[in-house]
This record gives sequence, C-alpha cells and structure tokens, in this order.
Amino acid sequence: HGGTVVSATGSQLLDVLVDGETIAAVVQPGSTALGADLFAAADAVIDATGKYVIPGGVDGHTHMQMPFGGTEASDTFETGTRAAAWGGTTTIVDFVVQTPGQRLQDTLGAWHQKADGECAVDYGFHQIIGEVNDESLKGMSELVSEGVTSFKLFMAYPGVFYSTDGQILRAMQSAADLGALLMMHAENGIAIDVLVEQAIARGDTAPYFHGTSRPWQMEEEATHRAIMLAQLTGAPLYVVHVSAKQALEQIATARGNGQNVFGETCPQYLYLSLEEQLGAGFLDGTGGFEGAKWVCSTPLRSRAEGHQDELWRYLRTGDVTTVSTDHCPFCMKDQKDMGIGDFSKIPNGIGGVEHRMDLMFQGVKSGRISLERWVEVCCTTPARMFGMYPRKGVISPGADADIVVYDPAGHTSIGLGKTHHMNMDYSAYEGFEIDGHVDTVLSRGRVIIDGGAYLGSAGHGRFVKRELSQNLI
Ligand code: URP
Ligand code: ZN
Ligand code: ZN
Ligand code: ZN
Repeated sequence: HGGTVVSATGSQLLDVLVDGETIAAVVQPGSTALGADLFAAADAVIDATGKYVIPGGVDGHTHMQMPFGGTEASDTFETGTRAAAWGGTTTIVDFVVQTPGQRLQDTLGAWHQKADGECAVDYGFHQIIGEVNDESLKGMSELVSEGVTSFKLFMAYPGVFYSTDGQILRAMQSAADLGALLMMHAENGIAIDVLVEQAIARGDTAPYFHGTSRPWQMEEEATHRAIMLAQLTGAPLYVVHVSAKQALEQIATARGNGQNVFGETCPQYLYLSLEEQLGAGFLDGTGGFEGAKWVCSTPLRSRAEGHQDELWRYLRTGDVTTVSTDHCPFCMKDQKDMGIGDFSKIPNGIGGVEHRMDLMFQGVKSGRISLERWVEVCCTTPARMFGMYPRKGVISPGADADIVVYDPAGHTSIGLGKTHHMNMDYSAYEGFEIDGHVDTVLSRGRVIIDGGAYLGSAGHGRFVKRELSQNLI
C-alpha cells in the first residue's frame, strides 16, 4: 500500500492486493472498485510509502551445487536460494548438467532430487547437453514437455562440456524443430587451451593470466560462429555471460538483421575488470592469489579497452536483453586455492545471486539505465525469455505474488559480515555501497524477507514448469 509500482513500461502509485499465492488486483490508491474498505479487510498491510514495488527478480542463470572444476559449487539449492531471497530474487533458473554417457532425462531427475524440498524461492531448469548424440537429441523433446525448454552448449572447455561445430549444428536443428532456446557459452575453447598451455609453460601462472589467455577475439569469433550456425538452422540463440564489446557487436548486428539472437550479461562484467585482478597482485610476492576471486569464464575484461561502458550502452539499446548472475560460487579455501601455481586449476565462477537487484539498481542511481529498464532486464524479460510470463516477472492480476518492496532511500553495504548470505568465504563485491535496499520480499504471497529478518523456509520454493520462450520475434 502506498508504493510506486514499477513495471517494464512505467511507474505509478498503485496498491496491490494479494490473495493467497497470487495477485488479485492492482488498483489506484483510494479506489473503491473492489469495495470501499480494501485494506481494512486485509489480513496484513505492508506500508510501501516512498518505496518501489517491483516484481520479484528472475535470475535466469545460476549453478547451485554444480559439480565443476574438480569440486562442487559451494551454495546448495538451500543456501543459494535463501541468499537470492535476501537480494530480492524470487525465481532462479539453474542448470542441469549432463555428462557424457548419461541420458538427459536421468540427469533432470537427479537435479529434481537435489532441489526438491530445499529451495526458498521458485526455480526452473535449463539443460546442459554435455554430449550431443542421437539419444540426447531425442531426449530434448521430452524435456521440453517437462518444462525444461532451453539447452546450453559449450564452445569452451574441451574435454569437459565441449561440443564440436557439427554437434552444435545438430543440436540447433533439434532446437529449431522444437522452438526451444539454444543457449551458448561462446568462447573458442580449442584455441584458448593452447594459450593457457603456453602461459603456464612461460611461468605466467597467477590468476590474472586466466583472463589474458581468454582474449576477446576468442569470444567474438565463437559468438559469430554460433550466430551463423543459428542463422543457418533457424534456432533461437541466447548467448550467455557476454563480456566482450566485440561479441556484443556481433549480437547487435544479428539482431539488426532480424535474427532471434539475445545477449545476456552479468553484474561482474559491468562492474569488475581485468585491471582489478591485476591490482590484486601477482608480482609482489605477497600472496598474489587474490585475483582468483574473480576467475570466471568468459573472463573479466579490461576497463581501459572500454568493455564495461559498452556493455552498459548495449543494455540501453536492448542488445543486452537480460542481466543474470551466472552465480557459480566457490570458496577461496579448499576450492579456488586448488589453482595456486596454476590458474587453469582454479574453479571458474563468481557468486552473486544475492546482489544482482542491488547492483543493477545502482545503475539506475548512476544514470546508466532507467528505473523501468532495471525491472525489465532483471525481472520481466527473463520471465518472458524463459517462458514464465505472466506468472513471473510482472505485477498484474493473476500473476504469482512475487513482490519486492525496494527502498530507494535505503542503503546496502556489500561484503562479508554485512550483507552476505551466500555460502562463500569472500565476496566478489566486497566494499560496494548501494544507494538502495531490499526491504520486503514476497514469494507466492508469503513474506520471506521482512526488513532484516528471513521468514522463508526450505521447500517453499517450487519447480516452475516453463513454456517455450515468449520473447522471440
Ligand atoms: O565461470 C563460469 N561462468 N562458471 C560457470 C559455468 C559457466 O560456464 O557458466
Ligand atoms: Zn558458461
Ligand atoms: Zn554459467
Ligand atoms: Zn530499507
């Protein structure tokens, strides 16, 4: 009551009536359309005066307890979704991993077992196809009917998840037939592996060299190749975690040609850079391993080369369609530190599921994006992109009552011992100050964050059976 409801298309003083798990009505303050005393009859009233009322965040790219890099991502579905709730994210879409030899359907079953009964907020699944073969291609249609309507392939990580161009072509043909979204990790992994080997042989073993051995040319080239294969096959293409401005130029060109191509970026690529990793030291002999905190792929890019500024610009043009976290947390101790003396052994990934809404709101405060664009890229478009609209991503009658009351006059200090609920022993955004605050979070009508208190529970979050993407041309 009394807040400004922000949607992708505008902002207005409106009251929101929740009945059970869904939104029953959105009305002008003082409206008598639903009877005179709407609020007197309510079980509870949340005063949102002076605050924004937005749809719960939809994070379309997370990896809870994912086996990767010889270890497992440190957030479980329980800890990771609780951290998401603290940060105003009420839906995640996580990745089921198929490793060679497994049936897609079996891996989906295994992931259901991991998540069922554990999640604080609702969740969906994408499927990683680790082995493109006849059986996997057949399995795709079964997954679509089970609400898993997007498939990720890797042009990076030879020997782990890697697909050849021929395999990509076949998977894209199947995706096109099904109308399913093909998600691509676009980096030329074959060439990168040679650069990595050469760097290690030279003695360039510090975390900083993870980034320099995955230069932007490798991302631009792979992005272009993926776009051409998608063009040929007619598959809708979603390029995940884009960090190079040149890759985005490829995406923008394809979109300009009317192709169903979408770019996702992440807060780390908008805010952090290779220079920070360099600044963390590697030559001074005083540890020099701090840079491992920010080892992820695609890597952080050079600020001097202008990638961050261009990413913000593409966020305004629409060629960056969504902002997800690629939340893939690892601790420094006993996980990242496996790569001391050899950066290629550092598990790749950054945790950030808790901070996306805040970090992107700071983009509003600093004049980089509009208030409405914030909601669009963090809530509404991810919901449409991944087939969950209008159940998720919007405040309108009939939608799930996933609602965040956001205080633009509040403040959030990010860091260990401050706001930190992720199961990580460091924060990638330590010291970041946000001019805003997540005050209240509702997940399907239940208040799960109330001021400084967590009122949610493991198992409240349910699996979301997704439809095909609603964001295609
Ligand atoms: O470094 C990253 N991004 N780790 C997560 C796995 C992936 O490629 O998305
Ligand atoms: Zn990836
Ligand atoms: Zn990822
Ligand atoms: Zn506050």
